[in-house]
Amino acid sequence: MSTDKITVSGPARQSEIYVKGAMGAKPIVPFDPYKLEQAAKDKMNANAAGYIIGGAGTDETIRENRSAFAKHRIYPRMLRDVSQRNTSLELFGDSLPAPILTCPIGVLEMIHEDADKAVARAVSQLDIPMIISNQASYSMESIVSEMDGSTRWFQLYWSKSNELVESLVRRAEKSGCSAIAVTLDTTMLGWRVQDLDLMHLPFLRGQGIAQYTSDPVFNNIVAEMDFGAESMIVPGVDPEEFKAIKAFTGVYSRPSITWEDLKFLRDLTSLPILLKGILHPEDASLAIAHGVDGIIVSNHGGRQVDGAIAAIDALPRVVEAVNKENSNIPILMDSGIRTGADIFKAIALGARAVCVGRPYAYGLALAGQQGVVEVLSNLMAEFELTMALAGCSELSEINKSCLLSNN
Ligand SMILES: Cc1cc2nc3c(=O)[nH]c(=O)nc-3n(C[C@H](O)[C@H](O)[C@H](O)COP(=O)(O)O)c2cc1C
Repeated sequence: MSTDKITVSGPARQSEIYVKGAMGAKPIVPFDPYKLEQAAKDKMNANAAGYIIGGAGTDETIRENRSAFAKHRIYPRMLRDVSQRNTSLELFGDSLPAPILTCPIGVLEMIHEDADKAVARAVSQLDIPMIISNQASYSMESIVSEMDGSTRWFQLYWSKSNELVESLVRRAEKSGCSAIAVTLDTTMLGWRVQDLDLMHLPFLRGQGIAQYTSDPVFNNIVAEMDFGAESMIVPGVDPEEFKAIKAFTGVYSRPSITWEDLKFLRDLTSLPILLKGILHPEDASLAIAHGVDGIIVSNHGGRQVDGAIAAIDALPRVVEAVNKENSNIPILMDSGIRTGADIFKAIALGARAVCVGRPYAYGLALAGQQGVVEVLSNLMAEFELTMALAGCSELSEINKSCLLSNN
């Protein structure tokens, strides 16, 4: 498996593709984002497709995440010397080649046996930061061991046990994570119709709980739980695994969490803390008041609240609220990013960077590590070309004046 570093330049990638095509090569993953999703869906089994592609309720939020981008049209400018382009930036002291990170996505073992490890190798080749999921298929230590020193953050679900929270954060620190992203929008699972129709939840099959089963505090919780005779009555499930699953379902989330709880995390670690799942400007102001270091505007890819505001609609409102507080904390955005043009629009609306979600999982499903490299390289290339063709050679030149917006 290659670990060679890859530097993506938009025009160079484009010509490489055409040249390879002239020699008879076929694309490893489709370039069209909708064909990418369809090809990945065709490769997945029904349970995986339901979990990875599906959303909450009628999928209205998923559709809105996409259609809301169309309210903003890119307004290209001419004769601006775009021969040299710089897409790089600094984020919490790390250098990024492009304003792109990968979203935390749990249970990737449903679509590829190497799961997060393959993603880790791919992002490491591109030097794109990976946000390691709390629901990953491998422990954070084993994911990190696949990386060649590239930037990684840890995504935390606030569990019922603060000791477990502390243990996960300490492990993230030791694993070289340079930030903690606390996901706030999943205090309980959304009403996910596709999973409900299949009556299938991967965690109950022991999938996506590796951060827990590799954790000493979690294993103590399991050891101290009283399971009675229950562990004997689930057909086909290993009793030890059943205990871990049962303990996980009891501990994974704390719906009672409030703003006051953030102090615990603030006191626990000196790593930057980002809140993932902020949509409302008043929550953005509260985030500033509670001393967080960054915000990820997100509706969890439409998997939580059906009929929720599109993330790209929430972004400018959050940016305005943060500016009002005279704060300069980075605001990131995910949910609906499918093209380089989407990335350009998000940056123009005030995002420092975006997180790419399902598309890289589709690449993983289709072609493992190489598939992830392909999807992310295509997004990097398309973003750079969009930026140049819009008349910008630096990220700092991308602002609201590059858009014609119609809300
Ligand atoms: C299959 C799947 C699993 C996910 N697992 C997590 C997770 O473990 N932690 C988390 O914070 N967000 C998780 N998310 C949400 C993503 O981090 C991100 O917010 C979302 O994918 C963005 O939407 P998009 O992929 O449609 O662009 C998951 C999303 C998907 C599709």
